[in-house]
Amino acid sequence: MKEETLDPENWEELRQIGHQMVDDMLDWLQTLRDRPVWQPVPDEVKARFQQRLPLEAQNLREVYKDFLTDVLPFPNGNQHPRFWGWVHGTSTPFGMLAEMLAAGMNPQVGFGERSAVYVEKQVIDWCKEMLGFPSEASGILVSGCTMANVTGLTVARNAKAGFNVQQQGLQNSNAKMMLYGSSETHSSIQKAIEVLGLGNESLRRIPVNSDFRIDLAALKKAIAEDRAKGLKPFCVIGNAGTVNTGAIDDLNGLADICEAEDLWFHIDGAFGALAALSPQYRPVLKGMERADSLAFSLHKWTSMPYEVGCALIRHPDKHRQSFSATGAYLLPLSRGVSSGIWFSEYGVQSSRGFRALKVWLSIKENGINKYRRLIEQNISQAAYLASLIEASPDLELLAPVPLNVVCFRFVKRNLAEDQLTELNRELLVRLQESGIAIPTYTTIKGKFAIRCSVTNHRSRREDFDLLIENVIKIGKEIT
Ligand SMILES: Cc1ncc(COP(=O)(O)O)c(C=O)c1O
Repeated sequence: MKEETLDPENWEELRQIGHQMVDDMLDWLQTLRDRPVWQPVPDEVKARFQQRLPLEAQNLREVYKDFLTDVLPFPNGNQHPRFWGWVHGTSTPFGMLAEMLAAGMNPQVGFGERSAVYVEKQVIDWCKEMLGFPSEASGILVSGCTMANVTGLTVARNAKAGFNVQQQGLQNSNAKMMLYGSSETHSSIQKAIEVLGLGNESLRRIPVNSDFRIDLAALKKAIAEDRAKGLKPFCVIGNAGTVNTGAIDDLNGLADICEAEDLWFHIDGAFGALAALSPQYRPVLKGMERADSLAFSLHKWTSMPYEVGCALIRHPDKHRQSFSATGAYLLPLSRGVSSGIWFSEYGVQSSRGFRALKVWLSIKENGINKYRRLIEQNISQAAYLASLIEASPDLELLAPVPLNVVCFRFVKRNLAEDQLTELNRELLVRLQESGIAIPTYTTIKGKFAIRCSVTNHRSRREDFDLLIENVIKIGKEIT
């Protein structure tokens, strides 16, 4: 009987295709600026994604050709210099190669004695240092800030419930557990509390001031009212960079309230936390170091390839208690392959990929000072964009720009609010379809806003000139 394997029969052929792949991808990355930012997936390409399940092997070169024709040309555009949608990351060529090395080694980074767990431990230590978080804190790399929020809030719920949630479940709670965050809190927090069985109603959305930062007096009042009703406040969520406007809550003020009220202090710092790399912006983030848990992404403002986020927890014992379920087949030993570091006891996943490698290699490639400069560059580009908007009679800036997010719209006299919404929505879609630039949108105080979030290391000032030129041109064409 002939035994089979998934290794190639012809290593030489694979080697050639592999080299070709590396060359093609580096060419593609080097010429991003020459292509449209985005284009829709053509119908004939979509049709080819409805092929029957392949039962037999296909020719490798043909398979690779399918990638080149049907996959590669239709990304969402986030690597292009003029992509400023949502809060996406841009990635780097070396990050791509790091991913290849990680997949080549393919270690299971859940637990055990292997280099990969020490790389991850080192990356987490670096993250603590970057953000001024206490060195005794524990941490784990996860898929992104959503999972980092889930991780932090799981520990918060378990630590503050006053009974053993893991053993007894939330059914055992005699008082409804309540969390507090501003009305600008990201939807991933809602997802987290829904997943945790707390329910969306347990999150009190506290109003913000005119600068979109949480109103501390309203927060204190809400906590007191809930206590008076017999509810159980347990956690406050601070925003270090809101998704809508980049606002940073008064984190020191929130930490004081949490201390006085004995509440867990969680910070969603998806992208904004990284502004702490800059001495210029660190003061605005004062208080971040006092959080019980801090969630952020590394695939956004530090341009690591998707996916990688990080949760840091000030209390390693509480962190481990929340996730340490094991089995007879899954127990640390003091020696052998089952010794080492057990990340599976600090997060939901048992099997885990080598996310840490791209972070470790990229930080060495660039040095933290380069990330700091790029973050400062993006913030000053956002300020430049805001200045272009303010200088134009056709445009209206819809929110202050404390960081890297710019919200604006095209305006025309005598148009009602709903007509302005219609106009700006059409303008935005035409701009996206033109392939010139990709902002996305949000609503600011009831107004439809074109929104640019600048976390792109490839953007240049001239890209923002081109954006504004085209927004005004398309706006005038429509009106
Ligand atoms: C403030 C904020 N929190 C959380 C998230 C979710 O992060 P991720 O997409 O890495 O899961 C985002 C995403 O943009 C965000 O802006």
